[in-house]
Amino acid sequence: MDFKSQLIGPKGLAGTLADALLVLVAGQELPGDLEQELAQTLAAALKQGDFELKAGKVLYAHQLAGVKAQRVVFAHAGEGSAKALRKAVAAGLAPIKDGGSASLVVAAVGMSWTDAHAEALVAAVADTVYVYRYTKPSAPAESRLRSVSLVCGKAEGPAVAEGLRRGQAIVAGSTLAREYANRPANHCTPSFLADQARKLGKEHGLKVKVLERKDCEKLGMGSFLAVAQGSEQEPKFIVAQWQGGARGEPPVVLVGKGITFDTGGISIKPAPEMDEMKSDMGGAASVLGTLCAVAQLRAKVNLIGIIPACENMPSGRAIKPGDVVTSLSGQTVEILNTDAEGRLILCDALTYAERFKPAVVVDIATLTGACVIALGHHRSGLFCADEELAAQLFAAGEQAQDPAWRMPLDEEYDEALKSQYADMANVGPRAGGAITAAMFLRRFTAKLRWAHLDVAGTAWKSGPAKGATGRPVPLLTHFVLGRSR
Ligand code: BES
Ligand code: MN
Ligand code: ZN
Repeated sequence: MDFKSQLIGPKGLAGTLADALLVLVAGQELPGDLEQELAQTLAAALKQGDFELKAGKVLYAHQLAGVKAQRVVFAHAGEGSAKALRKAVAAGLAPIKDGGSASLVVAAVGMSWTDAHAEALVAAVADTVYVYRYTKPSAPAESRLRSVSLVCGKAEGPAVAEGLRRGQAIVAGSTLAREYANRPANHCTPSFLADQARKLGKEHGLKVKVLERKDCEKLGMGSFLAVAQGSEQEPKFIVAQWQGGARGEPPVVLVGKGITFDTGGISIKPAPEMDEMKSDMGGAASVLGTLCAVAQLRAKVNLIGIIPACENMPSGRAIKPGDVVTSLSGQTVEILNTDAEGRLILCDALTYAERFKPAVVVDIATLTGACVIALGHHRSGLFCADEELAAQLFAAGEQAQDPAWRMPLDEEYDEALKSQYADMANVGPRAGGAITAAMFLRRFTAKLRWAHLDVAGTAWKSGPAKGATGRPVPLLTHFVLGRSR
């Protein structure tokens, strides 16, 4: 897909050459800045009850007299915010995305374009046209849509260009994350993730290193390897670096949970919806996606992605409830529930991150069902004791329309992790499960400036239209860009 911007031509919107024209209308009144052919259609539709000046409303017209584009769609964009625009574009594309249009021109009336609006347009188009095909080549082809051109005023041009550039990089990254998380676990294995990281490295100039099981043994990653030991799949510990900043500048480190399938292990999960646990590497996918976006933008920042990748399987070699393992940090862990495996692989990755002397470390994980209960599917859980870092991550989520919500890390929650047999247990009681999971990770971050994103509810959507979302690549990319020079 190709995105660009253009100034309105001498023949106006009606004279603009394209297969389809999408006019976004904001505000409660008929916009005065709309040219006659279009304004008349809109006025008539309003009068006849076929359109309303209300967010989400759409009017489709075919072969309008006096209009060059064969298809015209009006979509109401509420009060004209970037968020409302994103919804309006999604609604407005519905009647044309599966049709014959290859080129689309998008104009807005009653509102002005900013970089956030342009970025939202790119995200909405990408969201709409994505089709999963990897293991279903018979799936309907992606939309015929090839080019999207945004009509804006001269003064809006620079911001729009910036928004389109950023939007396209983010979309490349989140589509990559979405695609990997959608792939079944027999395709998306730890080895596959390692290969993709290497491939991404070649394409974008990342330095990529993959630690094998024996390397992890030598280092003493007893907790990570404990989860991996039940599976026939070789674990991979992936480290990928983008060096866009100054030499020696402390990097941002992103740690992504890479469980390519979570059966629960011996504490096995119930059968319904277990298939969705192929997406338990959504955190890992978002780290690769963010590296892709940041590298594509050539951002002046040092960024390191760390991905502990393995399967959580029951087997004769699998960990058992009550087993005690020694983590890379030296702390021992009593595994009371083998289904709380994410924290067991992340804790070793967090300790490993110390060697990079990072400016900040953010881990991203589909960590707990409890977080889905707490926040549903709209906001990711944000856990961070550092006010400034928490504010930066929160703001990045708002800017990117990939929002998060702050969750507590009070000391009291830590008591749930007491163990008779080890320094800590890997689970507490059910109540407050997302927070105790975060408290567990916190025990491995004393030397770090750290935040944790629980994306169990946002990286994947359940239900009949189940699938990966590519989140939180937009949040992470905005956060990392905010730290670049
Ligand atoms: N991968 C799951 C969390 C999850 C659940 C992600 C639902 C997406 C949707 C995680 O490994 C897990 O199983 N967590 C347990 C923790 C419990 C045993 C303390 C959970 O949430 O039930
Ligand atoms: Mn689990
Ligand atoms: Zn899991």
